[in-house]
Amino acid sequence: MSRPLPIRDEQAHAALDRAVEQVRLNLPLYTHSCQNHSSVDGVYPPCDNVEWTCGFWPGEVWLAYERTGDQAFRDAGLTLADSFERRIREKISVDHHDMGFLYTPACVAAYKLTGDQKAREAALLAADQLIGRFQPRGEFLQAWGEMGRPDNYRYIIDCLLNLPLLYWASRETGDEKYADIAKRHTATCLANSFRPDGSTFHTFYMNPDGSPGYGRTCQGYRDDSFWARGQAWAVYGSILSWRYTRDPAALDAFKRALDFYLTRLPEDLVPCWDMLFQPDSGEPRDSSSAAIVACGLLEAARILPKEDTGDYEKLAREMVGSLAAGYAAPLKSGGGLILHGTYSKKSPYNTCNPEGVDECTSWGDFYYMEALTRLAGDWDPYW
Ligand code: GLY
Repeated sequence: MSRPLPIRDEQAHAALDRAVEQVRLNLPLYTHSCQNHSSVDGVYPPCDNVEWTCGFWPGEVWLAYERTGDQAFRDAGLTLADSFERRIREKISVDHHDMGFLYTPACVAAYKLTGDQKAREAALLAADQLIGRFQPRGEFLQAWGEMGRPDNYRYIIDCLLNLPLLYWASRETGDEKYADIAKRHTATCLANSFRPDGSTFHTFYMNPDGSPGYGRTCQGYRDDSFWARGQAWAVYGSILSWRYTRDPAALDAFKRALDFYLTRLPEDLVPCWDMLFQPDSGEPRDSSSAAIVACGLLEAARILPKEDTGDYEKLAREMVGSLAAGYAAPLKSGGGLILHGTYSKKSPYNTCNPEGVDECTSWGDFYYMEALTRLAGDWDPYW
């Protein structure tokens, strides 16, 4: 296998149209229920709107609407947005930090594309819910569990993708408190979660007095290994942080996280689920990481001064080309867009529940479709 060819424009358009076809096939299954986080034997079970991942499917529906202008996608997206409004109003499974993963693609997108006021209100309530998890001692958004408990006193690298919801809320309301918390959390994350070699800790504990504690994994192989998706969240999250803050530390973090990620990639540019491993280990891949990093690269190529964008777009095209050529899922009812994602793989050293190993993942599908949308023309990001 040689290095993948960069996807060409007409191939990106064709792959996006195929993705839209899959989303259309799935509309009857996941309009009045949600799509679960990962497929089982290649088919997503429907689920209630209770998972941290439920926003990605509506995000795909909105991308399909943007591509086609088809009323069927708009109607389904607004039906789903109603369910998210109920979820936040009734506070159903919202005691965690993933309000951005949920409400940015499901409701900020709905509001941006249709002006729907209920979606706007839902996203603002979600931003309020998220800032309720801010811990002033240590200045971070607590990821999971009961607030303040010592075994929960930590944040995770993934949270960088929750922060655009807060910047959006500040812009919408004129109240800087949301952006201020986002900036404080980012400073804590950039100071502690990035190791000297540019790799990242998945989770980071703070001490009760607010001083930095130590890194631990939950979904990576070991505390000192390189969980691929955590690294992908670091890449995309830090360039998004730079867009909102213009903080040189965020740009530096983006470059260091990306450099580390690139040194550990196999030839087809789709990493194993932990970058401690190469494909000859027999460990499964995580295709979603490739899709997330491609979006980060395309965002960097879009917003950085031309002279600083290097080969970011070419790299992204190679990653997306590899996914389209080698990982595209067959079209079928309940199916996903890209195969060979890994949600959580149990190791002797981590603390996750094993789920969705070598399956489609709803975020892998979303970010793959986002990357194709970015390649198909100018796109105003939901994030
Ligand atoms: N944010 C959790 C994950 O990436 O699996």
